[in-house]
Amino acid sequence: MTSKPKEGILDLVQPHILELLGYEPIEPVNVLAERIGIPPDQIAKLDGNENPYGPSPRVLEALGSFDSYHRYADPKQRELRAALGDYVGVGAEYIVAGAGSDELIDLLVRVLLAPGDAVIDCPPAFGMYGFSTRVAGGRIVEAARRDDFSLDLEAVRNASKDAKAIFVASPNNPTGNPLSVEELDALLATGLLVVVDEAYAEFSGTSVASQVPQRENLVVLRTFSKWAGLAGLRAGYGIMPASLADVLMHMKPPYSPNVAAEVAMLASLEDREPLMERVGTIVAERDRMTTQLSALEFLKVFPSSANFVLVRIPGSEGQELRDKLAATGIFVRYFDTPRLRDCIRISVGTEADTDRVTVALREQGGERGR
Ligand SMILES: Cc1ncc(COP(=O)(O)O)c(C=O)c1O
Repeated sequence: MTSKPKEGILDLVQPHILELLGYEPIEPVNVLAERIGIPPDQIAKLDGNENPYGPSPRVLEALGSFDSYHRYADPKQRELRAALGDYVGVGAEYIVAGAGSDELIDLLVRVLLAPGDAVIDCPPAFGMYGFSTRVAGGRIVEAARRDDFSLDLEAVRNASKDAKAIFVASPNNPTGNPLSVEELDALLATGLLVVVDEAYAEFSGTSVASQVPQRENLVVLRTFSKWAGLAGLRAGYGIMPASLADVLMHMKPPYSPNVAAEVAMLASLEDREPLMERVGTIVAERDRMTTQLSALEFLKVFPSSANFVLVRIPGSEGQELRDKLAATGIFVRYFDTPRLRDCIRISVGTEADTDRVTVALREQGGERGR
């Protein structure tokens, strides 16, 4: 049998994938260091909301002594689902673990969306909701947040006629503000699947995860990337109605998350106390950074309950500022969207990182005044 030759391999790729604007990920430290020609240990990496302290020593020990890396992970995630359920206060049947909460976002949109189906996004928002929706062939309906970054519930209600699900982060990335009880109730009242992404919950100290069994249409996403310092291992999970959890368990890649991520998640849960002490240190540093930066009269710091702060410098170009800071070894995040054009997001690092970024911003402010 002869097959018709194709013009090129890309003719085989779905057109909507070719058209997709990719999620813009952050770069690793060694690449950043090489780009500006300084040693990696002199980089202040404040662009990924990562944990500057890394995993707990007990987690590293557990990873080093684990003796079954040659075996596949338990596809039913028995031990892990039970431990995660205990941690958030629900039964194991409500839990699905994955390779970071990114994988849960991807699984959810693939389960829900037929081509052309819509998801509500409330920008400024975490970029993966729009990205994964588009990869799945769905479309995004935007209900932009208000000027104070609270939800525009009227806009959400209008958009909900046409959508299947809504994604909101609490605290929100990149703005740092949490979802209020009233906002959650209003979202749930739309009858859509409401996905509350709690990637930063350990920093805010609040969570609605334990409400999942009482709410028909609530899904909560959590991760070990931030509070437990496991971003590189890809370790996240979702809490959702048990019937939906069953569906995800059947369609997820069978051995995800991998065994190293599983070992690290279990050991982190056992070593919660020192990890939460570090969370306390990061929260205190965030508040110190907020106070210190707020003293610079040319910028505005938005209050944050996460491990980063959004800073607005009216009249500036965030991209230019990001590049100027990068040239000195300080990496922060800039978002190329009209509402955040004069903003940068700074992750909370060490005390020295905070002082360094404060000095650099003060210098920038001084330059602008000249
Ligand atoms: C709101 C939000 N959700 C999810 C993630 C991704 O988490 P994970 O590393 O578990 O995929 C991030 C990462 O920055 C985030 O900010």
